[in-house]
Amino acid sequence: MRIDIITVVPELLASPLNESILKRAQESGHAEIYVHNLRDYTDDKRRTVDDYPFGGEAGMVMKIEPVYRCIEKLKSERDYDEIIFTSPDGITYNQHEANRLSLMKNIIILCGHYKGVDYRIREHLITREISIGDYVLTGGELAACVIADSVVRIIPGAIGDEASALTDCFQDNLLAPPVYTRPAEFNGWRVPEVLLSGNFAEIERWQEEQAFERTQTLRPDLIADK
Ligand code: ADE
Repeated sequence: MRIDIITVVPELLASPLNESILKRAQESGHAEIYVHNLRDYTDDKRRTVDDYPFGGEAGMVMKIEPVYRCIEKLKSERDYDEIIFTSPDGITYNQHEANRLSLMKNIIILCGHYKGVDYRIREHLITREISIGDYVLTGGELAACVIADSVVRIIPGAIGDEASALTDCFQDNLLAPPVYTRPAEFNGWRVPEVLLSGNFAEIERWQEEQAFERTQTLRPDLIADK
């Protein structure tokens, strides 16, 4: 899978995209992630990417030309399955959307900044608008990292242990059951006996019950959504 991220602050993306699973997924060829600096698509000396809004509101707006040039250049090189804009007024991101995106071959993520992008970009070029929650970030870069991370880790083969990704929290609309590791007793606190029993059918049943109970208590809305 290939992800092209367009941003006015490329520095913000460097570390999250180049460590841990995302780093390994790129090294093993499961994912290619490219960051494009929007200023490289400007044509003035000051490399201007924003301007005052028509109508006289406060704040600045991402200019249409650099964004258009960058997206059109990428589109001329390959077909894209989705061109995403990160914005607090997009659809709320969740595991279902991550699963859907992980099946795609090429996606672009345009990181929103300032008061947003000239609306004509959203009307004519963007195919999906995504928010990572009902709060406002300084820019869409952190949202782009969240999307890239959650999508790449579920590409088949990207993490060594595929079964692990399939039992993630939210797959099945359930929270994950509690997990423990050695020692079996610490400070007088014991790991649930069933996990030490070696009876895998029992263990699986216990994990399912726990997942359901935790979801019912902590996130009943997920069960209602099922
Ligand atoms: N940009 C600013 N806030 C955002 C959010 N909550 N989700 C996605 N992009 C954003």
